Amino acid sequence: MNLTLSLASVLLCVAMSSDVVALIPIVGKYYPSEQEALLQLRDAIGSPNLYSNWTGPPCMNNQSRWGGIACSEGHVVRLVLDGVQLAGSLPPLLLKNLTLLTKLSMRSNSIFGPLPDLSDLVHLEYVFLSHNLFTGSIPFHYVRLPNLMKIELQENYLQGEIPPFDQQSLVTFNVSYNSLQGPIPQTDVLQGFPESCYEHNSDLCGSPLKKQCPVPPAPSPSPPPTHGGKRSFRARNLAFIIAVSVVVPFLVMLVFLWYYRKVHRKETVMNAGLDKRSSQRAADPERAAELEFFDKNIPAFDLDDLLRASAEVLGKGKLSTTYKASLEAGVVVTVKRVKDMNGLSNKEFVQHMQLLGKLKHENLVQIISFYNSKEEKLIIYEFLPCTNLFELLHENRGSGRIPLNWITRLSIIKDVAMAMNYLHQHLPNHKVPHANLKSSNVLIHRQGQGQNHRTKVTDYGYHPLLSSRRSLEKLAISGSPEFCQGKKLTNKADVYCFGIIILEIITGRIPGDEGNEGREVGELSEWVRDVVNNDWSTDILDVEILGTREAHDDMLKLTNLALECTAAAPEDRPKMSEVLRRIEEIEQRKSDND
Ligand SMILES: *[C@@H]1O[C@H](CO)[C@@H](O)[C@H](O)[C@H]1NC(C)=O
Ligand SMILES: *[C@@H]1O[C@H](CO)[C@@H](O)[C@H](O)[C@H]1NC(C)=O
Ligand SMILES: *[C@@H]1O[C@H](CO)[C@@H](O)[C@H](O)[C@H]1NC(C)=O
Ligand SMILES: *[C@@H]1O[C@H](CO)[C@@H](O)[C@H](O)[C@H]1NC(C)=O
Repeated sequence: MNLTLSLASVLLCVAMSSDVVALIPIVGKYYPSEQEALLQLRDAIGSPNLYSNWTGPPCMNNQSRWGGIACSEGHVVRLVLDGVQLAGSLPPLLLKNLTLLTKLSMRSNSIFGPLPDLSDLVHLEYVFLSHNLFTGSIPFHYVRLPNLMKIELQENYLQGEIPPFDQQSLVTFNVSYNSLQGPIPQTDVLQGFPESCYEHNSDLCGSPLKKQCPVPPAPSPSPPPTHGGKRSFRARNLAFIIAVSVVVPFLVMLVFLWYYRKVHRKETVMNAGLDKRSSQRAADPERAAELEFFDKNIPAFDLDDLLRASAEVLGKGKLSTTYKASLEAGVVVTVKRVKDMNGLSNKEFVQHMQLLGKLKHENLVQIISFYNSKEEKLIIYEFLPCTNLFELLHENRGSGRIPLNWITRLSIIKDVAMAMNYLHQHLPNHKVPHANLKSSNVLIHRQGQGQNHRTKVTDYGYHPLLSSRRSLEKLAISGSPEFCQGKKLTNKADVYCFGIIILEIITGRIPGDEGNEGREVGELSEWVRDVVNNDWSTDILDVEILGTREAHDDMLKLTNLALECTAAAPEDRPKMSEVLRRIEEIEQRKSDND
C-alpha cells in the first residue's frame, strides 16, 4: 500500500486545535496514487477554478484543502465537481486508483468521450454525470457496482442499449435525453423507475415507456441488419439523407404555393432548388423528413414543421442569409441559409455539423440542427431576441442613443474571449476555429431595461467548409495580414480578429471607416498604434467612455493587449488562453477596487 504518513501528521494532533494548522501545508496522511490520479484529472479536464487550490496533498486525514474533494482516513471518498466548466475527455483509467470513492459527481460540465471505467470502485454509491457531452454506450460493468444507489446520466449523447441494472440498492436512475436504443431491460429494478427517467431517447422502447418494441424480425426494408452502434448510426444517417433528399423538393413546392397565397413581406426559408420531378416519389407519407437535433432541451420539430414556419429575414451577409422562423408549435429558431459550401461531400458536411453541434458554451449561439442537400444547406441555431455588437456600438449615434458604458463593454470583451478560448480548446484540429469573428457576429441580448447583457458569439467553425480563396475572402480572417500575404493561416488569425474587436469597443470606430483626419482607419490597429506610440493619449477613446476616468488605466491595458493581438506576425500574438487570462486579471483588479 502506498501509505504515506508524513511527519506533519504527527504534528496535526497538536495543530488541530489552533490556527497553526493553516501554517503547516503538508499535514496528515494521503495516498500518492490518489493524488496522481487527481492531478491527471486536473490536467486533462480541469477548469481555472480547480487550479487555484488543487496543489499539495489532496487529503489530510479526514480533511481536504482541495475544492470538491472529501477525504476519510487519508483516502479520497467524494469527488464533487458540479458545474465548474470541466471540459475535455476523461483519461480511461483515471478513477481506478481512487479505490474508496463513494460519490462521483460531475454534473453540468462539458466532458466528452466515453463514460469512465468504474470497475474497481466497489464502494461507489452515487454516480452523477448528467448534463455533459458523454458519448458511447453505458459500460456493462456498471451493473456490477454492488453498492450503487443513485446513477444519473441524463442529458448526454449516450448510445447503445441500457445494460440490465438490477442492484437492489438502486433508488435513482435517469438516462433521459440521450440517444439510447433498444428495449429497456425487464429487471425489477429498472421497471420500477418512472417514464421520465427514460424519455427523450431516440429509440428506446418497451415498458415503462408507452412505445412498444418492434416485433422481430423488423419489417422495415432498411439496409441489411448491422451490428455495432457506429454502423447502425450510419445507416440511420443514410436513411435520413435519403428521406430528406426525396421529400424536401416536394415540401418546398408546397410551401412555396402556400406562401404565395399569404400577403406578407415574409419570405420562405427555402425558395430555391425546386425539383418538380421528385414530387411524385415524395408523395409517400411514410417518409417523414427528419432533422438531426443536438440539444435535447429544444422541442424537436421536423423539416415539414420548419418549412411551414413563418420566416422573416433578419439579415443578409456575404456568406449567408439569416431568417427568424416561428414554428406553429410556438418554437422560434434562427435559420441560416449558407452559400459557398457546396464543395463538400455530404458526409463531410454532416460530420462537421455534428462536431459543431456538440459545442456548448454560454457565450456561443448553440447550433441545434441542420439540413443538407446538394442545393441547399441550412444551419439551425437557437433564436435570441437580440441586437449585435456592431449595432450597439455604431448605430443610432447622436440623439436618442443609450450610451454603452465601460463596465458593459469590458464584460462583452470578456464574454467574447471566453467563447473564443472555448472554441480554441474544443476545435484543436481546426486551423482557425472561429474564422469569422467580427462585431456583427457578436450577439447581445439586453435583459430588461438595466445594464444586464448576455453575449453570444455566432457564425463559428465555417473555415473547413469553404474551399476557394474567393469564398474564404468573405470571412473576417481575410482582414489578417497573413491572409492578405497568402501565408499559412493558424488560430492566431482569430486572435487578430479578436484584437480588432477590442479596438472597436474601445475606440467606437468602425474598422475600415474614415478617421478623424479624413484618412482611412482601414487599419484600425495601425491608427491606434500611431496614437499610442506618440505618447499615450486618450484620443483614441470613444467619447462615451472617456468620462469613466478611473478606468482609463484598464482601457490602456486592454489597448496594449489588443495591439499585441493585432501584431503583424502571427507568432508575436498571444494565445487565446493567455488573452483571456489577462482580461480576467484586469476585470479582477477592477472588482477588487470597487
Ligand atoms: C495508479 O497507481 C499506480 C501505482 O500505485 C500508478 O502506477 C498508476 O500510474 C496510477 N494510475 C493513475 C491513473 O493515476
Ligand atoms: C475520520 O473519520 C472517521 C469516520 O468518518 C473516524 O472513524 C476517524 O476517527 C476520523 N479520523 C480522524 C483522524 O479524525
Ligand atoms: C478551493 O477552490 C474552490 C473553487 O474556487 C473554492 O470553492 C474552495 O473554497 C477552495 N477551498 C479552499 C480550502 O480554499
Ligand atoms: C430525469 O431527468 C430529466 C431531465 O433532466 C428530468 O426532466 C426528469 O424529471 C428526471 N426524472 C426523474 C424521475 O428524476
